Amino acid sequence: MKDAICVFDSGVGGISVLRELVKLMPNEDFIYFGDSLHAPFGTKSKEEVRKLTIDATKKFMDAGAKGVTIACNTATSAAVRVLREMYPDFPIVGIEPALKPAATEFPGKRILVLATPMTIAEEKFHLLLSKYENDAEVIPLPAPGLMEFVEKGETESEELKSFLEELLFPYKEGEEKEVSGVVLGCTHYPFVAKQIGNVLGKNVKIFDGAEGTAREMRRRLDVAGLLRKDENYKGTVVFKNSIEDEKKIQMMENLFRLP
Ligand code: DGL
Repeated sequence: MKDAICVFDSGVGGISVLRELVKLMPNEDFIYFGDSLHAPFGTKSKEEVRKLTIDATKKFMDAGAKGVTIACNTATSAAVRVLREMYPDFPIVGIEPALKPAATEFPGKRILVLATPMTIAEEKFHLLLSKYENDAEVIPLPAPGLMEFVEKGETESEELKSFLEELLFPYKEGEEKEVSGVVLGCTHYPFVAKQIGNVLGKNVKIFDGAEGTAREMRRRLDVAGLLRKDENYKGTVVFKNSIEDEKKIQMMENLFRLP
């Protein structure tokens, strides 16, 4: 783990962020840790999620990581502020729903923010909302149960389709609350983005915060002088999970390699 960038999530969702990190920094080493044993985070208490996130970060730091990406909106809202206070000089980057680009692109229009119940209830989201609620009509929609499909590797099943159909019906093209954009405020959701798009309609634009988070991680490492200088070095990616099951690791690798 020495000098690696550690990436943390409640399970396999943060791989959507890892993909952007690797694209942006192909000559860095990454360790991805999914805490699937304790998933879902989104329906736990803030204290529990904060503790799990702090404990994982401490382990990464003890093992010599040079930076940590909290690739989970829920864990970010529960713990990032405290972690920054604990370790002000260590590069720790979290993720938040990409409301800014959505509100900029669709001023005055309706924007749906899909996230876990905790992300939507937390102060961090309310602060974000207060910045953009005069620019667009923002509708926060908690989606308990959705991450579980991705966690099971179910990204195309009929059950998933009916779940999404029921959840998103009022916001579909042609319906009363038709939306122009949807913000995926949970890192598991990009893996079902296609299905979300199929339900909402082809003109609905999908936003997620993975790329912005990856850019911020690179910026922080750059400022700290921690980016690898050797451009010929080919970075590595190692997957770990609190469920020590070969099938889970395999599934994580498959999600990472999706086209
Ligand atoms: N992937 C996580 C997020 O970005 C949460 C999923 C969960 O554990 O509930 O919020």
